[in-house]
Amino acid sequence: SGARVIAIDGPAGSGKSSVARAVARALGFQFLDTGAAYRALAWLILERGGDTDDEATVRGSLGALDSLELTVDAAGQRVVIEGHDVTEAIRTERVSGAVSGVARTMAAREAVNVRFRAIIADARPGIVAEGRDITTVVAPDADVRVLLTADEAVRIRRRFGDVGGDEFQVGASLAARDASDSRVVDFLNAADGVTVVDSTHLTFDETVDAIVRLASEEQ
Ligand code: C5P
Repeated sequence: SGARVIAIDGPAGSGKSSVARAVARALGFQFLDTGAAYRALAWLILERGGDTDDEATVRGSLGALDSLELTVDAAGQRVVIEGHDVTEAIRTERVSGAVSGVARTMAAREAVNVRFRAIIADARPGIVAEGRDITTVVAPDADVRVLLTADEAVRIRRRFGDVGGDEFQVGASLAARDASDSRVVDFLNAADGVTVVDSTHLTFDETVDAIVRLASEEQ
């Protein structure tokens, strides 16, 4: 009994990644951060001096997905592409600023989704997968589907706490990325059957508990 696949979507800075990882740890499940695949491609294109807003460049980079390694470990996901461990490098503002161009390319979405679905199908005893389109496109038949939200001001403050820098700039780049991403997938409104968890007034632990509870209610 209980859930095997837990899908969590939400905007940038919603805390999806840390929440999803903590849920995975609590349940003894694997953890998949799908944004990391988009980020790894963006990193590779920038590394080669390319432009992620150029669709042909993005399509031309997709062969590198064969070399993409995602360790789906609740202790922390390592990301390797073409032999480079980019786990930390994909978290920079530079990559965040470039990643939407990759996400906008349908061929890239289809290619990474094939990988995600294979990982989810193989996951034992279960997996928490997070992103923007997990509840709707990657795993619409997941046992638990959550849209994790928080007011934008709260998300900016939390993200600012993570990355530091100029709070105004962090806010502007986060809002710009959401605006761009939401033109491709609607992760701001819950699809049918998706439970909204609004973390604006919840602590981290309360947010994790709310999702763990949904998973244990699942028959
Ligand atoms: O979640 P994270 O901020 O790491 O995602 C990075 C980017 O990858 C997002 O801004 C979005 O462009 C893209 N993405 C996506 N679909 C997903 C996960 C991420 O389009 N399922």
